[in-house]
Amino acid sequence: MSATVAGAPVAATASPASPAKLQLQLRAITCLADDICSFEFVDPEHKSLPQFTAGAHIDVHLPDGAIRQYSLCNDPTETHRYVVAVLRDPNGRGGSVAMHDALRAGMLVTVSAPRNHFELSDDATRYLFIGGGIGITPLMSMIAEVRARGQDFHLVYCTRSPQRTAFLRELQPLIASGHVTLHHDHGDPTQGVDLAALLRDVTPGTHVYYCGPNGFLDAIDRAVQHWPKGTTHCERFSAPAGEAIDTSADTAFEVELKRSQKTFTVPPGQSIVHVMQAHGMDIDVSCEEGYCGTCMTRYLEGEPIHRDSVLDEEDREEFVMICCSRAKSKKLVLDI
Ligand code: FES
Repeated sequence: MSATVAGAPVAATASPASPAKLQLQLRAITCLADDICSFEFVDPEHKSLPQFTAGAHIDVHLPDGAIRQYSLCNDPTETHRYVVAVLRDPNGRGGSVAMHDALRAGMLVTVSAPRNHFELSDDATRYLFIGGGIGITPLMSMIAEVRARGQDFHLVYCTRSPQRTAFLRELQPLIASGHVTLHHDHGDPTQGVDLAALLRDVTPGTHVYYCGPNGFLDAIDRAVQHWPKGTTHCERFSAPAGEAIDTSADTAFEVELKRSQKTFTVPPGQSIVHVMQAHGMDIDVSCEEGYCGTCMTRYLEGEPIHRDSVLDEEDREEFVMICCSRAKSKKLVLDI
């Protein structure tokens, strides 16, 4: 199977939910703040790129073979470029360091077509955005879209200091108009914004969108417990903290790959992806912990045990993350 959307065709992998891949040129790398750069990708032949919606991300295929997801931060009406912003984190899994250290302007880079697990709800009449550090990135595209629609919003943007605040210049007019509140904690967690107070009152019609480091998101999760179901929306860069999954009762099951006409047994302690890879299949994976969405796959029969933190109840009727999820039924049939 191969896919060509813009630029050169790139071989696609086995997962039917994998987005098409594009070979794009890294047009510019721009410093936005301390340790934060933006990366602007364009089609090498100046063709239009597949359109994206606010909150979407792309997978970037790094020179060492790693795949990392970064939220698009530019205006979704732009079809000539994709822009992501990345914090260089030497304590991360290596993707952000490779983005900063291995990529150079002018290089051709494989990226996926955009996907969106963090979409703006059409039910909202007002949006409350809360960004922690580099978690601002999807919120920037959301703000562009909400402003274009003429809808009401407010952004609470929490960073350590002005020097570590990306998009400060772009946001100045919105700070002046009262649409954005900046909060710096200067590296002291006790000086963080009072999230419980911010989220105490539920305003009918308001939807809350939040993104940032795990501790920040966990605190917001606690503060929005009393908000109505479906009005709070979170995107994470890593697996949520919480109780470890009990795998002691895991049992073997069969996975049938309908279109490939193959059936494998997935024993306890191994993932569907591991078993497929062991049989020579090429599967795109990144986090392997169920939070990035790279391995999302449609299933046709069977009952999954979902162990991801991306899919909502509706998505779970159709898709499964094959890096971490298992099956309750004896057999799980995948659309691969
Ligand atoms: S590889 Fe990230 S969700 Fe499966």
